[in-house]
Amino acid sequence: MPDGNNSQPTMTMSKQFYLNEDLYEKEKEKIFYREWICIGHISQLPEVGSYFTADVAGQSVVAIRQKDDSIRVFYNVCQHRAHPLLKEGHGKRRVIACPYHAWTYDLDGELKRARGTDGVPGFKDQCIRLRQIRSDIAMGLVFLNMDDNAAPLMETIGKIISEVEEIAPNLAKMRMVAEHILHHESNWKVTLENFTECYHCPVAHKYLLENVYTSEDYKVTFDGPIFRHYSKGLGDPAIHGEDFRIWFIWPNFSIHRYPVHKCISLRHWRPHGHSKNDYVFRWYVDPDLSEDAVQEVIRYAQIHNDTTGEEDAVIAEQVQTGLKNRGYTSGPLVVKPEIGNENENAVAHFQQLYLMKMGAQSDAQ
Ligand code: FES
Ligand SMILES: [Fe+2]
Repeated sequence: MPDGNNSQPTMTMSKQFYLNEDLYEKEKEKIFYREWICIGHISQLPEVGSYFTADVAGQSVVAIRQKDDSIRVFYNVCQHRAHPLLKEGHGKRRVIACPYHAWTYDLDGELKRARGTDGVPGFKDQCIRLRQIRSDIAMGLVFLNMDDNAAPLMETIGKIISEVEEIAPNLAKMRMVAEHILHHESNWKVTLENFTECYHCPVAHKYLLENVYTSEDYKVTFDGPIFRHYSKGLGDPAIHGEDFRIWFIWPNFSIHRYPVHKCISLRHWRPHGHSKNDYVFRWYVDPDLSEDAVQEVIRYAQIHNDTTGEEDAVIAEQVQTGLKNRGYTSGPLVVKPEIGNENENAVAHFQQLYLMKMGAQSDAQ
């Protein structure tokens, strides 16, 4: 980060970091299969046998509520000949049956029945079970980590728990009332770098700044893997009376206090290859919020999708196109010694964090 006396601005990473297909394979290993990734909320698993699937950078996984009420996460693949077990989505099962040869597994992942294997020498001696993934729950959020040697989840998010609980003490009990998914035709880092600054907001997000929060107060601070966004909420205090807050947790999840009836919006970014990602918006409310207020949150969620959400999707696609232009290599970031509004300091931090996680390799170029 420049100190203000430095005469050279911080430059963006080279464009090859957003265009190189092979790099995505390295990002999977160094980032998505190594960091704590939030895959969902506890309300998606209300009863024993409830499950939901998720895609983590090409790995299908499934979270399942166990008979003892705990939650386990497995790779969603049969141990016989690799057919995926559960279709993408959610539901409830007493056992998990493979659609290929109908092997069945208990909820805890143990093989329960395998048709026609009685006469197979040694088969019974094999301990066959679904491959479990390390998981943890905090504030009702279900996280996984594919790296058994990773530091505990609390080392990443411990410092924000009291801050989030102050704003949303009921997060674990909240219920989802709306979900939108926007498909971004861009590298996941293009989408997230755009998300990480509000320098573009006055240009791109007219509705947002006239109705939801002000850009004058918009501030993004950062501390290792945590990015905090803050702005003042606008409008009728009875509806919007809260400040706008975001806790972004590297690499692809955020918790938002959106200023409409104290709702929380949880956001997941799911990369699909090097030039596409899904931006998932899920809107949660307090269980005892009145039906009228719930309808208002749903309405705002839809408006957000149709305005700010769509506007950012277009920006991300346009930037991805621009990165392919032979006339661009990299550019100076708006990094200032003091973090106020109108800057890209957090984008510089995002890129530094990325390079550090990738082992500072520059072999994308
Ligand atoms: S692959 Fe699942 S039962 Fe054969
Ligand atoms: Fe935006």
